[in-house]
Amino acid sequence: MYIHGYGERESERLLAQAASVVRLLHGDTRFPPGSRVLEVGCGTGAQTVSLARNSPGAQIVAFDHATASLARAIERVATAGLLNVEFLHADLYALPFEAESFDHVFICFVLEHLSHPIAALRLVKQLLRPGGSVTVFEGDHGSAYFHPDSEIAHRAIACQVELQRRAGGNACIGRQLYPLLVQAGYEAPCVTPRVVYVDAATPDLIDSFTRKTFTWMVEAVREEALAARIIDAATFDAGIRDLYRAAESDGVFCYTFFKGVAVKPTHLLREGSNGRDV
Ligand SMILES: C[S@@+](CC[C@H](N)C(=O)[O-])C[C@H]1O[C@@H](n2cnc3c(N)ncnc32)[C@H](O)[C@@H]1O
Repeated sequence: MYIHGYGERESERLLAQAASVVRLLHGDTRFPPGSRVLEVGCGTGAQTVSLARNSPGAQIVAFDHATASLARAIERVATAGLLNVEFLHADLYALPFEAESFDHVFICFVLEHLSHPIAALRLVKQLLRPGGSVTVFEGDHGSAYFHPDSEIAHRAIACQVELQRRAGGNACIGRQLYPLLVQAGYEAPCVTPRVVYVDAATPDLIDSFTRKTFTWMVEAVREEALAARIIDAATFDAGIRDLYRAAESDGVFCYTFFKGVAVKPTHLLREGSNGRDV
């Protein structure tokens, strides 16, 4: 289950998110000419465009199991005039690729939705050639703080975290990237925090990040949170108002993403064929 849904607003939110973090994420993400790169869970292609544009000599293979999102991704990449992307409608747990057929794997905002992120990392490791790399980008909702601070805004955020947990995911997975990569059997993991800091001096980020990326995401779980009785309507709505308050001219918002890069060992490893523990 994908907690954010697949509606129009979510599509616009993913675009706003990609735009606001494009330098943070893609600024140092380049793949060499001639390399084959697998993008896991490309969604509406918000990251695919940056990947393909920044590594024009690489061949990107992007897949998602959501048909409507994939259609948007195909359209977006075509509109951008990028020719180095192939799309595939596929599920991560039933991929049609041969072992060791990719040089690099790119995963952005997907592990947070999976019940078995280590198994997923192991699965894609089988598709990597020895010495190939995985690049993972994830957020961490525990890292959100803002001014004016608001206890009820934190309670609204906690609804999103709890619902994602009930759906099998982990909205605070960013801080775990290092141990996840190690447990999945990768070598030399390098994890760096990528802080988004927003105040009146960054008006673009007020709109694209504080409002559209973060507050819209929390706001979107309103009905589900009320139905699950984890909060009442008045408290939730007041929490959302306080998040929008942090987007006013004297407000401040801060959030940390984490980027992890690690390498598939060149020596042989014994592992189950489904990527899970042996
Ligand atoms: C938050 S979206 C991120 C999309 C894109 N990576 C981005 O950053 O804009 C998570 C995506 O992972 C996809 N996804 C989740 N589980 C999947 C699976 N088992 N197989 C393929 N795609 C999956 C969802 O359909 C969704 O499009």
